[in-house]
Amino acid sequence: MTHLVILGAGGDLTSRYLIPALAELDDAGVLPAGITITGVGRQPWDDESFRQHLAGCAAASPLLSRLHYHRGDVTDAATLRAALGDRDAPAVAYLALPPHVFPGAVQALGAAPLAAGSRIVIEKPFGSDLGSARQLNALVHEVVPEDAVFRVDHFLGMQTVQNILGLRFANRIFEAAWNAQHIESVDIIWDETLGLEGRAGYYDAAGALRDMIQNHLLQLLCLLAMEPPVTLTERALRDRKVDVLRSIRRPSLGEIRRDTVRARYRAGNAGGTEVPDYADEAGVDPQRGTETFAAVTLHVDNWRWAGVPFTLRSGKALDADRREVRVRFRPVPHLPFDQDHEPEPNLLRLRMDPDQLALEVNVNGAGDPFQLERAGMTADLAPQALSAYARLLLDIFDGDPILSIRADEAEEAWRVIEPIIDAWTQGATPLAEYGAGTSGPGDRPS
Ligand code: BG6
Repeated sequence: MTHLVILGAGGDLTSRYLIPALAELDDAGVLPAGITITGVGRQPWDDESFRQHLAGCAAASPLLSRLHYHRGDVTDAATLRAALGDRDAPAVAYLALPPHVFPGAVQALGAAPLAAGSRIVIEKPFGSDLGSARQLNALVHEVVPEDAVFRVDHFLGMQTVQNILGLRFANRIFEAAWNAQHIESVDIIWDETLGLEGRAGYYDAAGALRDMIQNHLLQLLCLLAMEPPVTLTERALRDRKVDVLRSIRRPSLGEIRRDTVRARYRAGNAGGTEVPDYADEAGVDPQRGTETFAAVTLHVDNWRWAGVPFTLRSGKALDADRREVRVRFRPVPHLPFDQDHEPEPNLLRLRMDPDQLALEVNVNGAGDPFQLERAGMTADLAPQALSAYARLLLDIFDGDPILSIRADEAEEAWRVIEPIIDAWTQGATPLAEYGAGTSGPGDRPS
C-alpha cells in the first residue's frame, strides 16, 4: 500500500489524530516505504498550504514532504478519480468525514473506481441506527469485500483495552472467578473534563449515546464479557465479541426508564475552562435535546453473566477525567470476623491514561488483627509505545482487520442501543441537567 487518500483532509480528525499518528509511524520507521498521502477537501489549498496547515502537528517530520492536496467534493467521482491517480494501484481510502457524508463518499469511491485490492477506512459512528448501518454496510460491500473494510474504533488501539485480553486469558486466577457466581457488577466509565471543543456540527447530531456508548464502551464490554477465543486472529476474536453483542438483552421500555440516564451540561468551569450552557454552545440546536452525558445498564443474557448488571457511563464537561473499568466482586459467602459492618467486596480497577491495574482487597488490621482493613495493590503499566491511531493505521497498512469493527458487529451494537434511542426520542427518559465541572447527574462515582 503506497497511497493513502484522506477524504475530509481539512477536518479536525485529520489534524488531531491522523497526521500526528502518521508522523509517529514515520519517526518509528514503520510507515510503508515510498507512501504518498493525498488529502481531499473543500478548502482552497494547494500542496504547500496543506503542508503549512499541518506543519504544527507534524512539525519536524519528513512526512510533510509526502503530503499532497486535492481540492474538491468528496462525494464526486471525478474528484476522487483525480485524487486516486494511477487507476491500477490499490489505495487506502480513509473517510475522515462527518457520518452523513459516508454514503455519498463510498458511492463516489465505487464510481471512481477504486483499484482492485484497495481498502476503505470508515470512522465512527458507523450509521446512526440499525437501518442506516445495514444500508451503509451494503453500500460498502458493493465497492470492496469485507476483509478490506476497516471500521475504526480507536479504543481498540489502546494498550489497556488490549490488556483486558492479557489479564483475562493469560492468567489463571482472574478467569476462574470471571462470572456471575463471583462478580456482582461491572462499571465501564469514560468521564471527560473536555466539553464540546467546537465539534457541535458532528456532536449535536450524535450525543453521548451514539458518540461513546454505541461503539467505544460496548467494545470494552465485549472484551470484558467474551468467552476465551481459541486464537488471537481476527475471525476468532471478532466472533467472540459478536457473541457478546448478540447476548445483550434489548432493554424494555420499563428497563430504559429505570436504568438509563440522559443529561446535558449547564454553564460552569470544567477542567479549568469556562463553558456555557450546552444549549448555548455555537452550532447547537437546543430543540434537539442532545445529551452530553449518558449512562445505561445492560444485561448479558448468557450462562456466564446472567443477573450481572453492566453499567456504561460517559459524559462531557465533568469534574474529572475518569477512564476506568470497575469489576466488583460479590461478598464472601460467610465472614468469620465479628465486625460491626460488612467489608467492601474486592474491586478490580483497570484505569486508562495513565494505565494502571488496581486490586482492592481486605486484610487483617494493623492494631486488632481480627478487624479488617482495606489494602490496594496497584501496578503501573508501561506507557503505550504507539498511540492508538498509529497502532490502527499500522494494521490497516498490513491489511489486518483484527482491531477494526466487523460489519455484523456494527449492526449488533445498534440492535442493542436502538431501543434506547427510540425511547429517548419519544421522551421516555427526561433530559436531566448537570453543572459543567460537577460529577454529573446522580451519585458521585467514588
Ligand atoms: C471520540 C469521541 O471517539 O473519543 C470523543 O468522538 C471523545 O467525543 C473521544 O472525546 C475519547 O477518546 P480519547 O482517546 O480522546 O480519550
